[in-house]
Amino acid sequence: MTTAGAAEPPMGAGAQPLTGPRSDGYSDGAAETLWGDGAEPVPESAELGPTGRPLRLVPDPPPVARHGEALIVAMCNQKGGVGKTTSTINLGAALAEYGRRVLLVDLDPQGALSAGLGVAHHDLDLTVHNLLVGNRTSIDDVLMRTKVENMDLLPSNIDLSAAEIQLVNEVGREQTLGRALEPVRDRYDYILIDCQPSLGLLTVNALACSDGVIIPMECEYFSLRGLALLNDTVEKVRDRLNPRLSLYGIVVTMFDARLLHSRQVMARVVEVFGDLVYDTAIARTVRFPDASVAGEPITTWAPKSGGAEAYRSMAREVIHRSGR
Ligand SMILES: Nc1ncnc2c1ncn2[C@@H]1O[C@H](COP(=O)(O)OP(=O)(O)OP(=O)(O)O)[C@@H](O)[C@H]1O
Ligand SMILES: [Mg+2]
Repeated sequence: MTTAGAAEPPMGAGAQPLTGPRSDGYSDGAAETLWGDGAEPVPESAELGPTGRPLRLVPDPPPVARHGEALIVAMCNQKGGVGKTTSTINLGAALAEYGRRVLLVDLDPQGALSAGLGVAHHDLDLTVHNLLVGNRTSIDDVLMRTKVENMDLLPSNIDLSAAEIQLVNEVGREQTLGRALEPVRDRYDYILIDCQPSLGLLTVNALACSDGVIIPMECEYFSLRGLALLNDTVEKVRDRLNPRLSLYGIVVTMFDARLLHSRQVMARVVEVFGDLVYDTAIARTVRFPDASVAGEPITTWAPKSGGAEAYRSMAREVIHRSGR
Protein backbone atom coordinates (compact mmCIF):
# COMPACT_ATOMS: atom_id res chain seq x y z
CA MET A 1 0.00 0.00 0.00
CA THR A 2 1.30 3.44 -0.89
CA THR A 3 1.40 6.08 1.79
CA ALA A 4 -0.73 9.18 1.58
CA GLY A 5 2.09 11.51 0.69
CA ALA A 6 3.91 9.28 -1.75
CA ALA A 7 1.62 9.33 -4.76
CA GLU A 8 -0.84 11.83 -6.09
CA PRO A 9 -4.44 11.00 -6.77
CA PRO A 10 -5.50 11.21 -10.42
CA MET A 11 -7.54 14.26 -11.30
CA GLY A 12 -11.04 14.59 -12.65
CA ALA A 13 -11.54 16.90 -15.63
CA GLY A 14 -10.82 20.46 -14.63
CA ALA A 15 -10.12 19.47 -11.07
CA GLN A 16 -7.22 20.97 -9.20
CA PRO A 17 -4.40 18.78 -7.99
CA LEU A 18 -4.71 17.77 -4.39
CA THR A 19 -1.19 18.86 -3.73
CA GLY A 20 -0.16 21.46 -1.22
CA PRO A 21 -2.29 24.42 -0.20
CA ARG A 22 -4.64 25.60 -2.91
CA SER A 23 -4.52 29.06 -4.39
CA ASP A 24 -8.22 29.44 -5.20
CA GLY A 25 -9.55 30.04 -1.73
CA TYR A 26 -11.21 26.64 -1.65
CA SER A 27 -9.32 25.48 1.38
CA ASP A 28 -8.09 28.44 3.32
CA GLY A 29 -10.64 31.02 2.26
CA ALA A 30 -13.59 28.78 2.95
CA ALA A 31 -12.07 27.81 6.25
CA GLU A 32 -11.75 31.46 7.23
CA THR A 33 -15.41 32.03 6.58
CA LEU A 34 -16.28 28.97 8.59
CA TRP A 35 -14.46 30.05 11.69
CA GLY A 36 -14.91 33.77 11.05
CA ASP A 37 -18.63 34.14 10.34
CA GLY A 38 -20.48 34.19 13.61
CA ALA A 39 -18.08 31.68 15.11
CA GLU A 40 -16.37 32.96 18.23
CA PRO A 41 -12.79 31.82 18.60
CA VAL A 42 -12.63 28.95 21.06
CA PRO A 43 -9.83 28.06 23.46
CA GLU A 44 -7.50 25.27 22.48
CA SER A 45 -6.61 22.36 24.65
CA ALA A 46 -2.98 21.36 25.21
CA GLU A 47 -3.98 17.95 23.90
CA LEU A 48 -3.59 17.12 20.20
CA GLY A 49 -6.72 15.81 18.53
CA PRO A 50 -6.98 13.13 15.83
CA THR A 51 -6.21 15.73 13.16
CA GLY A 52 -2.82 16.37 14.79
CA ARG A 53 -3.95 19.91 15.69
CA PRO A 54 -4.63 21.12 19.22
CA LEU A 55 -8.22 20.28 20.10
CA ARG A 56 -10.53 23.28 20.08
CA LEU A 57 -12.79 23.23 23.12
CA VAL A 58 -16.14 23.96 21.51
CA PRO A 59 -18.67 24.69 24.25
CA ASP A 60 -22.11 23.10 24.53
CA PRO A 61 -24.37 25.11 22.26
CA PRO A 62 -26.90 27.46 23.83
CA PRO A 63 -30.57 26.58 23.40
CA VAL A 64 -32.32 28.15 20.42
CA ALA A 65 -35.24 30.43 21.12
CA ARG A 66 -36.77 30.35 17.67
CA HIS A 67 -36.56 27.66 15.02
CA GLY A 68 -36.40 28.07 11.35
CA GLU A 69 -34.99 29.03 8.10
CA ALA A 70 -33.17 25.75 8.11
CA LEU A 71 -29.65 25.47 6.90
CA ILE A 72 -29.67 22.83 4.17
CA VAL A 73 -26.67 20.53 4.16
CA ALA A 74 -25.85 17.87 1.56
CA MET A 75 -23.96 14.90 2.99
CA CYS A 76 -22.12 14.02 -0.14
CA ASN A 77 -19.38 11.79 -1.52
CA GLN A 78 -19.68 9.85 -4.75
CA LYS A 79 -17.55 7.10 -3.23
CA GLY A 80 -19.67 4.34 -1.72
CA GLY A 81 -19.56 3.12 1.84
CA VAL A 82 -17.71 6.07 3.35
CA GLY A 83 -20.18 6.87 6.13
CA LYS A 84 -22.61 9.32 4.48
CA THR A 85 -25.71 7.64 5.81
CA THR A 86 -24.21 6.88 9.23
CA SER A 87 -23.10 10.50 9.54
CA THR A 88 -26.49 11.84 8.42
CA ILE A 89 -28.37 9.77 11.01
CA ASN A 90 -26.01 10.41 13.89
CA LEU A 91 -25.13 14.02 13.23
CA GLY A 92 -28.87 14.64 12.85
CA ALA A 93 -29.64 12.87 16.12
CA ALA A 94 -26.88 14.74 17.94
CA LEU A 95 -28.11 18.10 16.61
CA ALA A 96 -31.61 17.14 17.76
CA GLU A 97 -30.25 16.29 21.24
CA TYR A 98 -28.96 19.85 21.37
CA GLY A 99 -32.50 21.06 20.82
CA ARG A 100 -32.18 21.78 17.12
CA ARG A 101 -35.09 20.77 14.88
CA VAL A 102 -33.76 18.47 12.22
CA LEU A 103 -35.15 17.03 9.01
CA LEU A 104 -33.32 14.14 7.38
CA VAL A 105 -33.89 13.60 3.66
CA ASP A 106 -33.21 10.16 2.20
CA LEU A 107 -32.06 10.90 -1.34
CA ASP A 108 -30.72 7.41 -2.02
CA PRO A 109 -32.97 4.82 -3.69
CA GLN A 110 -31.30 2.19 -1.49
CA GLY A 111 -33.23 3.72 1.41
CA ALA A 112 -30.43 3.04 3.90
CA LEU A 113 -31.19 6.18 5.88
CA SER A 114 -34.83 5.17 6.25
CA ALA A 115 -33.86 1.60 7.15
CA GLY A 116 -31.27 2.85 9.64
CA LEU A 117 -34.07 4.68 11.43
CA GLY A 118 -36.21 1.57 11.59
CA VAL A 119 -38.60 2.51 8.77
CA ALA A 120 -39.98 -0.35 6.66
CA HIS A 121 -39.28 1.66 3.55
CA HIS A 122 -40.16 -1.06 1.01
CA ASP A 123 -43.82 -0.81 2.04
CA LEU A 124 -44.18 2.95 1.85
CA ASP A 125 -46.66 4.44 -0.60
CA LEU A 126 -45.39 7.99 -0.36
CA THR A 127 -41.72 8.83 -0.47
CA VAL A 128 -39.36 11.54 -1.71
CA HIS A 129 -40.00 10.13 -5.17
CA ASN A 130 -43.58 11.45 -5.06
CA LEU A 131 -42.28 14.91 -4.14
CA LEU A 132 -39.91 14.99 -7.08
CA VAL A 133 -42.12 13.64 -9.83
CA GLY A 134 -45.71 14.73 -10.15
CA ASN A 135 -46.80 17.77 -8.20
CA ARG A 136 -49.79 16.53 -6.30
CA THR A 137 -48.13 15.20 -3.17
CA SER A 138 -47.92 17.43 -0.13
CA ILE A 139 -44.66 17.20 1.77
CA ASP A 140 -46.68 16.79 4.99
CA ASP A 141 -48.02 13.50 3.66
CA VAL A 142 -44.49 12.18 3.18
CA LEU A 143 -42.94 13.51 6.41
CA MET A 144 -42.47 10.97 9.20
CA ARG A 145 -41.55 11.44 12.83
CA THR A 146 -38.59 9.40 14.00
CA LYS A 147 -38.08 7.93 17.46
CA VAL A 148 -35.70 10.79 18.12
CA GLU A 149 -37.41 13.87 19.49
CA ASN A 150 -36.98 16.91 17.21
CA MET A 151 -35.94 14.77 14.22
CA ASP A 152 -38.17 14.03 11.22
CA LEU A 153 -37.56 12.04 8.06
CA LEU A 154 -38.47 12.19 4.40
CA PRO A 155 -38.06 8.51 3.51
CA SER A 156 -37.17 6.85 0.23
CA ASN A 157 -37.14 3.47 -1.34
CA ILE A 158 -36.26 1.93 -4.67
CA ASP A 159 -38.99 3.98 -6.41
CA LEU A 160 -36.57 6.89 -6.32
CA SER A 161 -34.30 5.14 -8.80
CA ALA A 162 -36.71 6.12 -11.58
CA ALA A 163 -36.52 9.81 -10.73
CA GLU A 164 -33.31 10.61 -12.59
CA ILE A 165 -34.89 9.48 -15.86
CA GLN A 166 -38.30 10.94 -15.10
CA LEU A 167 -36.81 14.34 -14.34
CA VAL A 168 -34.68 14.57 -17.45
CA ASN A 169 -37.26 16.45 -19.51
CA GLU A 170 -38.52 18.68 -16.69
CA VAL A 171 -37.92 22.41 -16.83
CA GLY A 172 -35.71 23.36 -13.90
CA ARG A 173 -35.02 19.71 -13.17
CA GLU A 174 -32.04 20.49 -10.93
CA GLN A 175 -34.20 22.63 -8.63
CA THR A 176 -36.91 20.07 -8.02
CA LEU A 177 -35.82 19.05 -4.53
CA GLY A 178 -35.34 22.68 -3.50
CA ARG A 179 -38.90 23.48 -4.55
CA ALA A 180 -40.20 20.46 -2.63
CA LEU A 181 -38.39 21.41 0.60
CA GLU A 182 -39.26 25.10 0.54
CA PRO A 183 -42.61 24.78 2.41
CA VAL A 184 -41.00 23.23 5.50
CA ARG A 185 -37.77 25.16 5.65
CA ASP A 186 -39.05 27.47 8.36
CA ARG A 187 -39.90 24.55 10.67
CA TYR A 188 -36.36 23.22 11.02
CA ASP A 189 -32.92 24.44 11.98
CA TYR A 190 -31.07 21.88 9.88
CA ILE A 191 -32.09 19.82 6.86
CA LEU A 192 -29.53 17.08 6.18
CA ILE A 193 -29.68 15.34 2.81
CA ASP A 194 -28.21 11.84 2.57
CA CYS A 195 -26.93 11.61 -1.02
CA GLN A 196 -26.40 8.46 -3.02
CA PRO A 197 -22.87 7.47 -4.08
CA SER A 198 -22.96 9.19 -7.47
CA LEU A 199 -22.82 12.69 -8.88
CA GLY A 200 -25.97 12.24 -10.96
CA LEU A 201 -29.10 14.37 -11.12
CA LEU A 202 -30.33 13.47 -7.62
CA THR A 203 -27.07 14.58 -6.05
CA VAL A 204 -27.03 17.72 -8.21
CA ASN A 205 -30.55 18.44 -6.90
CA ALA A 206 -29.20 18.17 -3.35
CA LEU A 207 -26.29 20.50 -4.11
CA ALA A 208 -28.52 22.95 -5.95
CA CYS A 209 -30.68 23.55 -2.87
CA SER A 210 -28.02 23.30 -0.15
CA ASP A 211 -26.24 26.02 1.75
CA GLY A 212 -23.30 23.74 2.29
CA VAL A 213 -21.76 20.35 1.75
CA ILE A 214 -20.32 18.07 4.38
CA ILE A 215 -18.08 15.37 2.95
CA PRO A 216 -17.75 12.20 4.99
CA MET A 217 -14.45 10.62 3.98
CA GLU A 218 -13.29 7.17 4.91
CA CYS A 219 -9.81 7.35 6.34
CA GLU A 220 -8.24 5.38 3.57
CA TYR A 221 -5.71 6.38 0.94
CA PHE A 222 -7.92 5.77 -2.09
CA SER A 223 -10.60 8.02 -0.63
CA LEU A 224 -8.43 11.01 -1.44
CA ARG A 225 -8.82 10.35 -5.13
CA GLY A 226 -12.48 11.18 -5.48
CA LEU A 227 -12.28 14.46 -3.61
CA ALA A 228 -10.97 16.42 -6.60
CA LEU A 229 -13.90 15.33 -8.75
CA LEU A 230 -16.35 16.11 -5.96
CA ASN A 231 -14.79 19.54 -5.49
CA ASP A 232 -15.11 20.12 -9.22
CA THR A 233 -18.82 19.25 -9.12
CA VAL A 234 -19.42 21.49 -6.11
CA GLU A 235 -17.73 24.37 -7.94
CA LYS A 236 -19.75 23.77 -11.11
CA VAL A 237 -23.01 23.75 -9.15
CA ARG A 238 -21.94 26.92 -7.34
CA ASP A 239 -21.15 28.68 -10.63
CA ARG A 240 -24.17 27.53 -12.58
CA LEU A 241 -26.99 26.80 -10.17
CA ASN A 242 -26.44 27.84 -6.58
CA PRO A 243 -24.02 30.66 -5.72
CA ARG A 244 -24.59 30.23 -1.96
CA LEU A 245 -23.23 26.68 -1.94
CA SER A 246 -20.10 26.30 0.14
CA LEU A 247 -18.03 23.44 1.44
CA TYR A 248 -18.74 23.29 5.16
CA GLY A 249 -16.30 20.60 6.04
CA ILE A 250 -14.81 17.17 5.75
CA VAL A 251 -15.43 14.60 8.43
CA VAL A 252 -12.98 11.74 8.51
CA THR A 253 -14.70 8.45 9.30
CA MET A 254 -13.51 4.95 10.15
CA PHE A 255 -10.41 6.45 11.71
CA ASP A 256 -8.10 4.21 13.69
CA ALA A 257 -5.45 6.18 15.57
CA ARG A 258 -3.41 3.02 16.15
CA LEU A 259 -2.75 2.59 12.43
CA LEU A 260 0.05 4.49 10.77
CA HIS A 261 -1.97 4.43 7.55
CA SER A 262 -4.89 6.21 9.25
CA ARG A 263 -2.60 8.87 10.70
CA GLN A 264 -0.87 9.41 7.36
CA VAL A 265 -4.13 9.79 5.46
CA MET A 266 -5.41 12.20 8.13
CA ALA A 267 -2.20 14.26 7.90
CA ARG A 268 -2.60 14.49 4.12
CA VAL A 269 -6.24 15.53 4.31
CA VAL A 270 -5.40 18.22 6.86
CA GLU A 271 -2.47 19.40 4.74
CA VAL A 272 -4.72 19.86 1.72
CA PHE A 273 -7.99 20.98 3.30
CA GLY A 274 -6.78 22.74 6.45
CA ASP A 275 -9.48 24.00 8.77
CA LEU A 276 -12.19 22.48 6.62
CA VAL A 277 -11.42 19.18 8.32
CA TYR A 278 -13.52 18.81 11.46
CA ASP A 279 -11.51 18.32 14.63
CA THR A 280 -13.78 15.39 15.33
CA ALA A 281 -12.85 12.15 13.61
CA ILE A 282 -15.21 9.19 13.73
CA ALA A 283 -13.45 6.04 14.87
CA ARG A 284 -14.03 2.68 13.24
CA THR A 285 -16.30 0.59 15.45
CA VAL A 286 -18.73 -2.22 14.90
CA ARG A 287 -21.25 -0.37 17.03
CA PHE A 288 -22.31 1.68 13.97
CA PRO A 289 -23.45 -1.29 11.88
CA ASP A 290 -25.03 -2.73 15.03
CA ALA A 291 -27.00 0.46 15.67
CA SER A 292 -28.23 0.46 12.03
CA VAL A 293 -29.49 -3.08 12.44
CA ALA A 294 -31.32 -1.93 15.57
CA GLY A 295 -32.84 0.91 13.48
CA GLU A 296 -31.59 3.63 15.80
CA PRO A 297 -28.94 6.34 15.91
CA ILE A 298 -25.98 5.41 18.06
CA THR A 299 -26.81 8.37 20.29
CA THR A 300 -29.89 6.52 21.57
CA TRP A 301 -28.78 2.91 21.02
CA ALA A 302 -25.47 3.30 22.86
CA PRO A 303 -25.64 6.83 24.26
CA LYS A 304 -22.43 6.63 26.25
CA SER A 305 -20.35 5.04 23.50
CA GLY A 306 -17.39 6.72 21.88
CA GLY A 307 -19.31 6.81 18.60
CA ALA A 308 -22.20 8.72 20.18
CA GLU A 309 -19.78 11.15 21.82
CA ALA A 310 -17.98 11.65 18.51
CA TYR A 311 -21.13 12.69 16.67
CA ARG A 312 -22.08 14.99 19.58
CA SER A 313 -18.67 16.58 19.29
CA MET A 314 -19.14 16.99 15.55
CA ALA A 315 -22.59 18.50 16.15
CA ARG A 316 -21.04 21.07 18.49
CA GLU A 317 -18.56 21.99 15.76
CA VAL A 318 -21.33 22.23 13.16
CA ILE A 319 -23.48 24.43 15.40
CA HIS A 320 -20.52 26.59 16.35
CA ARG A 321 -19.40 27.05 12.76
CA SER A 322 -22.87 27.81 11.47
CA GLY A 323 -23.84 30.02 14.40
CA ARG A 324 -27.26 28.41 14.91
N1 LIG B 1 -17.18 4.73 11.88
C1 LIG B 1 -17.55 3.53 11.41
N2 LIG B 1 -17.00 2.39 11.90
C2 LIG B 1 -17.36 1.19 11.43
N3 LIG B 1 -18.31 1.01 10.51
C3 LIG B 1 -18.90 2.08 10.00
C4 LIG B 1 -18.57 3.40 10.41
N4 LIG B 1 -19.33 4.27 9.72
C5 LIG B 1 -20.10 3.54 8.91
N5 LIG B 1 -19.85 2.21 9.08
C6 LIG B 1 -20.47 1.09 8.38
O1 LIG B 1 -19.95 1.08 7.05
C7 LIG B 1 -20.97 0.77 6.13
C8 LIG B 1 -21.14 1.95 5.16
O2 LIG B 1 -21.55 3.08 5.90
P1 LIG B 1 -22.66 4.06 5.34
O3 LIG B 1 -23.82 3.28 4.84
O4 LIG B 1 -22.89 5.11 6.35
O5 LIG B 1 -21.86 4.64 4.11
P2 LIG B 1 -22.45 5.43 2.85
O6 LIG B 1 -21.38 6.36 2.41
O7 LIG B 1 -23.76 6.00 3.17
O8 LIG B 1 -22.63 4.23 1.81
P3 LIG B 1 -23.35 4.34 0.38
O9 LIG B 1 -22.39 5.06 -0.49
O10 LIG B 1 -23.57 2.92 0.00
O11 LIG B 1 -24.61 5.09 0.58
C9 LIG B 1 -22.23 0.50 6.95
O12 LIG B 1 -22.32 -0.86 7.18
C10 LIG B 1 -21.96 1.24 8.25
O13 LIG B 1 -22.64 0.65 9.33
MG1 LIG C 1 -25.59 5.78 2.16
